Amino acid sequence: MADAIVAEGLVKRYGSVVALDGLDLVVPEGTVMGLLGPNGAGKTTTVRVLTTLLEHDKGRATVAGLDVVADAKQLRSKIGLSGQYSAVDENLTGFENLDMVARLYHLGKQRSRERARELLERFDLVDAADRPVKGYSGGMRRRLDLAGALVAKPSVLFLDEPTTGLDPRSRLGMWDVIEELVAGGTTLLLTTQYLEEADRLADKIAVIDHGRVIALGTADELKAQVGGERLELSLGSAQDVAKAREVLGPLAIGEIVADERGHRLTVPVSGGAEVLVDGIRRLDAEAIKVLDIGLRRPTLDDVFLTLTGHAAEEKQGERGE
Ligand SMILES: Nc1ncnc2c1ncn2[C@@H]1O[C@H](COP(=O)(O)OP(=O)(O)O)[C@@H](O)[C@H]1O
Ligand SMILES: [Mg+2]
Repeated sequence: MADAIVAEGLVKRYGSVVALDGLDLVVPEGTVMGLLGPNGAGKTTTVRVLTTLLEHDKGRATVAGLDVVADAKQLRSKIGLSGQYSAVDENLTGFENLDMVARLYHLGKQRSRERARELLERFDLVDAADRPVKGYSGGMRRRLDLAGALVAKPSVLFLDEPTTGLDPRSRLGMWDVIEELVAGGTTLLLTTQYLEEADRLADKIAVIDHGRVIALGTADELKAQVGGERLELSLGSAQDVAKAREVLGPLAIGEIVADERGHRLTVPVSGGAEVLVDGIRRLDAEAIKVLDIGLRRPTLDDVFLTLTGHAAEEKQGERGE
């Protein structure tokens, strides 16, 4: 199978800020690559370089066999991009937006209208087709934006944080739409800050932090890489969280995560049920009251924490950039 996207040693600086620091990425045709990382990791910069919107400083990249710099013009007609910030015109209707995009791709008057209608149907926007986008919900806008990216039937599709800012219901709806899309064999590069999103949609996940890929694999491979299990506790008070942390310290095989406000504690352990029993004995001996305790397999959240030393959601407060 040919590779739809190849990036080698991409470097991009904004003044003194190093946004991409030697990023390597290979996406085989017909697969979904999830680019997972916190705010500021370099996801949008990667997408902008690969979609010819931004020139990198070092390295090289090809998409659909075309160089993103030398063949930029030719490449543009082969890719679709739905950005972190919606590109739709607020004052036009859903139909007008798609019709306009189709005309920009020189589809011709008749064909443009047909394509707009097809896409409105496919993205469940027929009822809203003749209303200005101003009145659309967040989920509807994202669907329209995605429809716009598909007008020219691109062979490689880029979705930059397609569900950031959506409520949980719209997010699920968007996941369904994307899953349907990739079932048809589209090559997709998807960026996300949500571990469960990458887990659900991507064949492979590249975890990025500070402009480089720090881990690559399927969701299961990444989880296995972290190893062990997680002992998860719910306690009665912040003091108990601190005490339990100390008492369970000797069992930990990695960094313990304490949520003192939520009265929760997560301890990476290995040894299965025996460790659970051991933990309960230790807590009991110190008379620490445990509301709930359980053992679970590591999640992608744990993967991220283990790899980067910080939680994936830590920086989400900065989302308004
Ligand atoms: N136009 C810009 N000017 C200066 N710095 C930028 C610009 N765009 C992005 N950056 C910086 O580059 C880094 C990567 O940003 P970005 O690619 O947007 O990350 P992400 O999409 O993962 O949140 C961040 O430190 C960000 O602040
Ligand atoms: Mg971004």
